[in-house]
Amino acid sequence: MNKHICTRWAFDLSTWTPTLPQLTHAVAAIQAEERTRLMKFHFIDDFLSSLIGRLLMRKFVSTCTNEPYHQVQFARDVRGKPYWVQAQQLKTSSTQLSFNVSHQGKLVLLAGIRGSKADPEFGIGTDVMKIEYNGGKSLSEFFRLMQSKFSPQEWSYIGRPQHNERAQLKAFMRHWCLKEAYVKELGVGITVDLQKISFAMDTTHPLEEAASPLCGTTLCCNGTPMSQWHFEEHLLTPKYCAAIAFRNCLPLEHAKFEFLHFEDLIERSAAAEQPDVLAYCQKALLKPHKRHQ
Ligand code: COA
Ligand code: MG
Repeated sequence: MNKHICTRWAFDLSTWTPTLPQLTHAVAAIQAEERTRLMKFHFIDDFLSSLIGRLLMRKFVSTCTNEPYHQVQFARDVRGKPYWVQAQQLKTSSTQLSFNVSHQGKLVLLAGIRGSKADPEFGIGTDVMKIEYNGGKSLSEFFRLMQSKFSPQEWSYIGRPQHNERAQLKAFMRHWCLKEAYVKELGVGITVDLQKISFAMDTTHPLEEAASPLCGTTLCCNGTPMSQWHFEEHLLTPKYCAAIAFRNCLPLEHAKFEFLHFEDLIERSAAAEQPDVLAYCQKALLKPHKRHQ
């Protein structure tokens, strides 16, 4: 299997309070239909998570292809998965890209991979979860409701005798991220029978920040080993785990997510000074904050 350059970027929203000028530059960079979509969020937190995801995608494509930052165009497939629309003049380029964004709580992640069109078609999916449960019901009741989403082997790992409730929750979230990353690579939403896809965890080390990523996790579908798939599991902070699913590709090296700053994500443009962009951003900044993340 070919090895490719992999990008793993993270953004911590708790480290950033957007100013109006920053927001105008961010909003000027995204497409009109995305502005409309973002404005529908009630909370500023969701607005900003999704906005940062769009900027990560733009930076990734622009960095990999040298296409000017403001010219990069995205579209969504029928299930909502974003993809890069290659400009006519770049159609002859030999670059094949795959990327996926995930956001939860204070984190936004992008995992991307870059290869050649001569390679067999490949893809990547990612998911991040906060390791917490405050759903009201007891954890065992919650697990009972989730029974059908995991295989018997997965439940036996989650409920290992050495796992206290906290360890069970962490194991549950690790599986959840792996399934979501897999499903997001396929782009099929929740139409996969999740019980038929079963992950066997990498047990060489506990999943800790220092030991991240763990790369030995394997997948079986209907009992068949999925040898064309590879997985990385990350612990980004003590409370956030993530997974990356690689289909038909392997990263050149396994590495941690790199935390970026807002200034890394934008390229300034005169469009930020347009009155409609300014008015849009002023309106967005009036949205309420969630009480805590
Ligand atoms: N496939 C892959 N990526 C998609 C996508 C799709 N069909 N639709 C959107 N995305 C991308 C977008 O960049 C999106 O960001 P945006 O909302 O700001 O545009 C991002 O992925 C969202 O990912 P994430 O933040 O991880 O959201 P999610 O985990 O709530 O949703 C779905 C993921 C919508 C793609 C899908 O997997 C889903 O419906 N999940 C339902 C949950 C479930 O039952 N999971 C079972 C796991 S055990
Ligand atoms: Mg998710």
